Amino acid sequence: MRSIAIASGKGGVGKTSFVINLALALAQCNQKVLIFDADLGLANVDVMLGLSPKFDIRHVLTEKLSLKDIIYTTDYNFDIIPAGSGAIELVNLSSNQKLLLKAQMEETFKNYDFLLFDSSAGISENVLFFLLLAGERIILCTPEPTSIADAYALIKVAYKKYKIKDFYLIVNMISNNLEGKRIYQQILYVLERFLPEIKLSYLGGLPYDEGVKKAIKSQIPYLILYPENTLSSKIKEITLKLLKFNPQDDKGLETFLERLVKF
Ligand SMILES: Nc1ncnc2c1ncn2[C@@H]1O[C@H](COP(=O)(O)OP(=O)(O)OP(=O)(O)O)[C@@H](O)[C@H]1O
Ligand SMILES: [Mg+2]
Repeated sequence: MRSIAIASGKGGVGKTSFVINLALALAQCNQKVLIFDADLGLANVDVMLGLSPKFDIRHVLTEKLSLKDIIYTTDYNFDIIPAGSGAIELVNLSSNQKLLLKAQMEETFKNYDFLLFDSSAGISENVLFFLLLAGERIILCTPEPTSIADAYALIKVAYKKYKIKDFYLIVNMISNNLEGKRIYQQILYVLERFLPEIKLSYLGGLPYDEGVKKAIKSQIPYLILYPENTLSSKIKEITLKLLKFNPQDDKGLETFLERLVKF
C-alpha cells in the first residue's frame, strides 16, 4: 500500500478536487483507492461528491464503531473515510487510541493499493501529522505569489520540525505549461539555497478550467463530466507518473503503522 498526503500552505488551491479526480484516475488503472478526509472538522470530500455518509472518523475515535464500518463506498470505484464535522485532532491521540486505530487500520488498509489523505490548508500540527504519517507527499500551489510563498513555508516547517525531506509539487490553475515549470524552478532555487537537503520533484501543472467549479456544483467528479478536456488528460498524466515514480510498496502498510504509533 502507498500512502500519499495532499497538502498546501494556502487554502482553496484545489486539493480536494484534485484528490477526488486522482482517486478516480487511479481506480481507472485498476488500483484500489481509499481517500481519508483529513480535513478534520470540515467534511469536504463527501460534500464534493454529494454523499451524506451516516458515520465518520469520530465514531471510531469514540469507539462506537470500527474503522471498517465507517468506510463509504462511492459509485466511482473508490472508497472514502469521511471526516464529519466537529473539531477533532488526530495528533492528540492517546497511546491506547493509537493502538486501537493501528489494529483496525492493519485489518482495513491491507485491501487497498493507495491511501490518499486530503489535508486541510496551513501548517497546523494536524497537517504536519498527516505529512509525516504518509509515505509520500504532494504539495499543491497556484501561480499566486502568496500561494507559492505558503507552499515554501509548509515545506520548510515540515523539514525543520519533523525532518521530512521529500515532496512532490503540483502547480494548479496555470495558464500554460511553462508557467508551472517556472514556479517549480523558482521554489527549487530557493530550496537549493536555503534548504539543500530537501528533494522536490515536479509532478506537473494543471490548467485553470471553469469546468472544475461546474463539477463541484453538480457534485460529479471533473473526470466524469469532462473526460476529453486538457485538465483530464493532465490529471491522468500525473496519475501515470505517480504509478511509475514508485512501484507498489509491499512494506508500505507496515511502515505506515509504525509511523502512526511512533508519532
Ligand atoms: N484547475 C482549476 N481550475 C479552476 N478552478 C479550480 C481548479 N482547481 C480548483 N479550482 C477551484 O478552486 C476552489 C477550491 O477548490 P478545492 O475546494 O478543491 O480547494 P482546497 O485546496 O481543497 O480548499 P481548502 O483549503 O478549503 O480545503 C473551487 O472553487 C474550485 O472550483
Ligand atoms: Mg479541501
